[in-house]
Amino acid sequence: MHFTSNNTIFGTQFRKEPETAGVPLVCDASSDFLSRPIDIKRYGVLYAGAQKNAGPAGVTIVIIRKDFLRTAKTEGVPTILSYATHTGTMFNTPPVFAVYMFNLVLDWLIARGGLDAMDKHNQEKAGILYDEIDRDGFYHGTAQNDSRSLMNVTFTLASEELEKEFLAGAKELRLSGLKGHRSVGGMRASIYNACPKESVQVLVDYMADFRKRKG
Ligand SMILES: Cc1ncc(COP(=O)(O)O)c(C=O)c1O
Repeated sequence: MHFTSNNTIFGTQFRKEPETAGVPLVCDASSDFLSRPIDIKRYGVLYAGAQKNAGPAGVTIVIIRKDFLRTAKTEGVPTILSYATHTGTMFNTPPVFAVYMFNLVLDWLIARGGLDAMDKHNQEKAGILYDEIDRDGFYHGTAQNDSRSLMNVTFTLASEELEKEFLAGAKELRLSGLKGHRSVGGMRASIYNACPKESVQVLVDYMADFRKRKG
């Protein structure tokens, strides 16, 4: 069963894997890969574009179970698109710089205490932001509480006018990239692994100040 573990646009995340009665999971984990420990035994395939938590764009990590791979259809699948082509052989020229950077990110992750430590860090970061959103009705969190993402925190204000003001004020403090995806509007704070808690705190302080002035 295919699922996407974290939806960057809606700011939603599976807190744990869906129950599938033994059916292997196939997961697009692009936007929360390496943000927390997962039970990898449950996955037939997990794939993730590097560009969020793993390194520069241009490389995709694929973790695939060998016995699951053997069941994959190959007939009619273009050679370059078949995972079987890429196991054990180097079919095309790999983007070595992106692979090298990914390895450095893994060293950094291990030095910081690995996935458990990263999970704790991410929970703290998202926690202070959601606490601020939930303080009263001034900010509105758009995801259901039990599906809230620790990577992309989405929220709205009472009017588009107020949101514009919020974003302009944020920009002055060099808080950039807070505009929500064009398909949903509102605000989105993307707080991937590399984003420190101090940066989230700057945003939270700004939100508290904005509420005091406009609420
Ligand atoms: C879960 C997920 N899958 C896929 C993509 C798309 O990645 P790309 O821009 O490399 O196609 C994204 C990007 O936001 C994503 O979050």
